[in-house]
Amino acid sequence: MVTLSVIKADIGSLPGHVRAPSKLVDRVRGVLEDGKSDGVLIDYYVGCCGDDIDLVMSHDHGVDSEEVHSLAWDAFQEGTEFAKELGLYGAGQDLLSDAFSGNVKGLGPGSAEMEFDERESEPILVFLCDKTSPSAFNYPLFKMFADPFSTSGLVLDPSLHEGFDFEILDYYEGDTATLSCPEEMYDILSLLGIVSKYSIESVSKKDGRPAAVVSTEKLNLMAGEYVGKDDPVAVVRCQSGFPAVGEALEAFSFPHLVPGWMRGSHNGPLMPVSEEDATPTRFDGPPRVVALGFQLNNGKLEGPRDLFDDPSFNTARKKANEAAEYMRNHGPFQPHLLSEDELEYTTVPKVLEKLENRFK
Ligand code: 13P
Ligand code: 13P
Ligand code: MG
Ligand code: MG
Ligand code: MG
Repeated sequence: MVTLSVIKADIGSLPGHVRAPSKLVDRVRGVLEDGKSDGVLIDYYVGCCGDDIDLVMSHDHGVDSEEVHSLAWDAFQEGTEFAKELGLYGAGQDLLSDAFSGNVKGLGPGSAEMEFDERESEPILVFLCDKTSPSAFNYPLFKMFADPFSTSGLVLDPSLHEGFDFEILDYYEGDTATLSCPEEMYDILSLLGIVSKYSIESVSKKDGRPAAVVSTEKLNLMAGEYVGKDDPVAVVRCQSGFPAVGEALEAFSFPHLVPGWMRGSHNGPLMPVSEEDATPTRFDGPPRVVALGFQLNNGKLEGPRDLFDDPSFNTARKKANEAAEYMRNHGPFQPHLLSEDELEYTTVPKVLEKLENRFK
């Protein structure tokens, strides 16, 4: 069995929330290099999407491994010290506590992990987002694993034909339910469409093999007030019983509207970009998604290929820019502005509190 762990955090950026500078990424990488030399990791890649640093790590310690989580935590701690020295904006932004106790969960960083038997050939995609929430993956993961108009293999490939199970998280209760697709497709959609409440946590084959996993930590729910967006990551296995690489990517060809963008308080289109173009600048956005493709080879990460660095996604980017323009013209009005129940967890409640006795 091999485990792929993606653990991510925003520990500082420049200017403002645009981009983690490469010397900060280098510093974090150094800690993982030591972890590899010490035998904690088989291999690693340090990715970056906007102001978020994403640690892609392969190892054989299983999910929730204290060794791996503490290595990631150390990397972010050391990075935070350096970010402070550099005077970066939001140095240590996502590290909500300094008391590490075996697992990064609940401490601010996001994590998406899966353990599986490596197949003879194991193509894996890692999606990295900035300026959005875990529920940004609801729409594309549904398309990937449930929509035959997007994933032709659901119709054409006998090994996909039985469909997939979706594990869905209720953010506010903290509980998950597993629903079977296509049998319960309409029930699944009635939950996934409510992106402020439900998020896909994982997808699996009907025999239980993991297919996809999302980092579902909600920073604002953890911290009780707005401390930046969660900026999720997802891992997706491809080919031979899973969607083809091109089918997984096809799910991002329509830049759907996601919550996030400026101050985490606006809906905007999710733009698929290369790692280099993951520099959200217009109104701190629009929200971005990067796709890194690897082949696992006895746990070694061959790659990555930067998959949205391709002209076939130019139309999606153009559409995203048009949608961004359209949404921006709403200024502070809904539906560009998030709904009130989502703003509940940002700064607006303070304004409403202040004005409370002005309502007669
Ligand atoms: P190739 O012939 O390029 O391997 O393509 C196979 C395929 O099924 C692509 O979706
Ligand atoms: P980040 O979560 O990417 O730091 O975004 C915070 C923000 O408020 C951007 O406007
Ligand atoms: Mg930030
Ligand atoms: Mg971010
Ligand atoms: Mg964030």
